[in-house]
Amino acid sequence: MYWLGIDIGTGGSRALVVNEHGAVVAGFTAPHEDMKMERPMWAEQRPENWWDAAQKAIAGVMAQAGVKGDEIAAVGLSGQMHGLVTLDAANNVIRPALIWCDQRSQPQVDWINQTVGKANVVAHTANPMLTGFTLPKLLWVRDNEPASFERVKKVLLPKDYVRFMLTGVHATEVSDASGTGLLDVVTRRWSKPMLDRIKLDASILPEVKESADVTGTVSAGAAKSTGLKEGTPVVGGAGDQAASGVGNGIVGPGVASCTIGTSGVVFAYLDRPQYDPTGRVHTFCHAVRGKWHVMGVTQGAGLSLQWFRNHFAPGTDYDTLMAEAQTAPALSHGLYWLPYLMGERTPHLDAIARGGWIGLTAKHGRAEMVRAIVEGVSYSLRDCLGVIESMGVEVKSVRASGGGANSPFWRQMLADIMSRGISTLENKEGSAYGAALLAMAGSGQGSVEEICSRVVKEADCLIPGVHESAAYNRGYEVFTTLYPTLKPIYSLIHQLA
Ligand code: XUL
Repeated sequence: MYWLGIDIGTGGSRALVVNEHGAVVAGFTAPHEDMKMERPMWAEQRPENWWDAAQKAIAGVMAQAGVKGDEIAAVGLSGQMHGLVTLDAANNVIRPALIWCDQRSQPQVDWINQTVGKANVVAHTANPMLTGFTLPKLLWVRDNEPASFERVKKVLLPKDYVRFMLTGVHATEVSDASGTGLLDVVTRRWSKPMLDRIKLDASILPEVKESADVTGTVSAGAAKSTGLKEGTPVVGGAGDQAASGVGNGIVGPGVASCTIGTSGVVFAYLDRPQYDPTGRVHTFCHAVRGKWHVMGVTQGAGLSLQWFRNHFAPGTDYDTLMAEAQTAPALSHGLYWLPYLMGERTPHLDAIARGGWIGLTAKHGRAEMVRAIVEGVSYSLRDCLGVIESMGVEVKSVRASGGGANSPFWRQMLADIMSRGISTLENKEGSAYGAALLAMAGSGQGSVEEICSRVVKEADCLIPGVHESAAYNRGYEVFTTLYPTLKPIYSLIHQLA
């Protein structure tokens, strides 16, 4: 038998077919439309486009693997977190989804803090309310598009919309639900006090399950459009970061992961909920039953490089850009990149922070600019690691994954900047792989931990260079002075924008 994992990312939907040994038989990606950015810090995508891409990815991977629908034992879903999908009474999408990096909802975050009380929000959900989370996005629709809000009968997360299209069931699971601002992360249930204080009817939320639980089965219609067999079980799956945690084997203490996708995330396992007192990192439910995780998020990781390429090097592939960056020296002749293209979460929690290079001179060219981007994103990931360690969470080594981690240059830089070993896995598929492993767990192949210990294997480990780490430590000191210095200027810019 085989298992299917599908990740509804930002750039595309990726489907993987995995066999009983956890080996990937085939993978297929169908790209998404670009995010629509009507204004700075706004970001939307169409859920219908995710479903189109998911169908193509499923049909594509099964054709590539030469696997028939009746050979797939179960399906697992993973996806970009926090996005707001709104459905009406007929289950039609009401408006495009405000996605994870959309920052327009600061007034709604302020309103929630006033209405519920800042401390109560943390008591009810284990996290402070953030513009990135789903609830303020929903309240933005309430405040700005009341006619749309009136029609909302169900709110779903991105992968859960795809689940609905596959199964006809409105359901989610604990890891993704943690990022809505409405889940009591400690008890792993929707928070009644939050719903009551915000005056939201519980019926607009989907049922919430554990990640390896079966949530429904493939419908006749979806079987026709994907090639899957009607009745195939679909497990809860996980938000992309918790799924990537499973795919990277971060299911016990000691090893963290660093995922460089559009966003960048440092992720560590927790036996019990533990918090950063100022909420700079998220404490969320893990996809492992009854466990939690902590993660720091850099909003514009791979996004920084993608933005640069789209505007200044169209048509150039990332390997070429990386090769060019390597021609510049470490510290990029004193050029620094602030990756705050979509505001920032860890450690600044600032929806109006902006990106930019600091330190340009006439000597700098494209090589230094790209290298500075890679360095700036890596410093920002060190910020994430630093907050996690300050909570007393031990991180002996870090496993790298995501598109950025395909570059040995970037991985070595992470080792040097984080001053610790950066390993990669035999299987670098991350989220989609984690989703497939959750499907295995949901169909009797063992617990998530057992499956990970059987199939997740380290391939290599890059060791930090002594001189390079010392140089980057000095660079990091400069980097950490930039945000506090610029913070008042971001307010001025924001007022005029
Ligand atoms: C995690 C987060 C991003 C998105 C997109 O909190 O917002 O990682 O899931 O990948």
